[in-house]
Amino acid sequence: MHIMLNQKHIQPSISSKWAKGLLLSGLTLSLGLAFADYKGENPMQESRDTAAAMLKELGQKLQAAMANGGPENAITVCNIEAPAIAERLSREEKITITRVGTRVRNPVLGMPNDWQTEALQQFAKGLANGEKPADMEFVQAVKAGSGSRMELRYAKPIVMQPQCTACHGSTEQISPAVQAKLKELYPDDRAVGYKPGELRGAIVVSRFIGYNNN
Ligand code: HEC
Repeated sequence: MHIMLNQKHIQPSISSKWAKGLLLSGLTLSLGLAFADYKGENPMQESRDTAAAMLKELGQKLQAAMANGGPENAITVCNIEAPAIAERLSREEKITITRVGTRVRNPVLGMPNDWQTEALQQFAKGLANGEKPADMEFVQAVKAGSGSRMELRYAKPIVMQPQCTACHGSTEQISPAVQAKLKELYPDDRAVGYKPGELRGAIVVSRFIGYNNN
């Protein structure tokens, strides 16, 4: 079984039996799988909350560092703290959370896999259709890995803000000092040339939600 949706275009309902815990903006997404092995109450909401927490914490740290020393100082937030926050949340919540990009600065952490690429494509389409980033999300419940293991995949778009151009904008927008530092840290950097409003990437969360023996 394979479900994909965002809040506006929901393709719901295989059975209502397992609907508990998957409430999406008042709509019920029903997945034909058992949550017997899943200890949480609402995996969908938890994934959404974790993604929001990551964006919030990162945003605050970035803003503080930018105010206190500019983009040159703030590189460490993105370079060191972003992966650290993702790792901590992953451990605390027993999930996998990371950031991926439409073009990538850090090829190790930021490269989207197949489903993440699909999510990015859906977000790009949504933005082109005038949808608001805050309203968009991508959700999939799929068999993943060996046997009947089910995985819930969640993604939320990350859109360029004006302040992001200091490190992801045009050559004129990125100071020589920041360019030099980025070049040193990321020799294969592709994550430049973005404009405010453009899709920059996504926060992606995956988690185990049980077994489907159907
Ligand atoms: C001070 C410089 C700086 C600023 C400002 C900045 N970034 Fe980044 N960004 C980076 C660095 C450095 C990385 C690579 C992080 C890593 O090594 O994982 C990165 C990585 C990312 C990634 C992960 C994908 C990739 O390319 O590796 C996303 C998504 C992202 N930034 C979005 C944003 C957004 C949105 C903003 C504005 C809110 C922003 N960034 C502001 C420096 C910056």
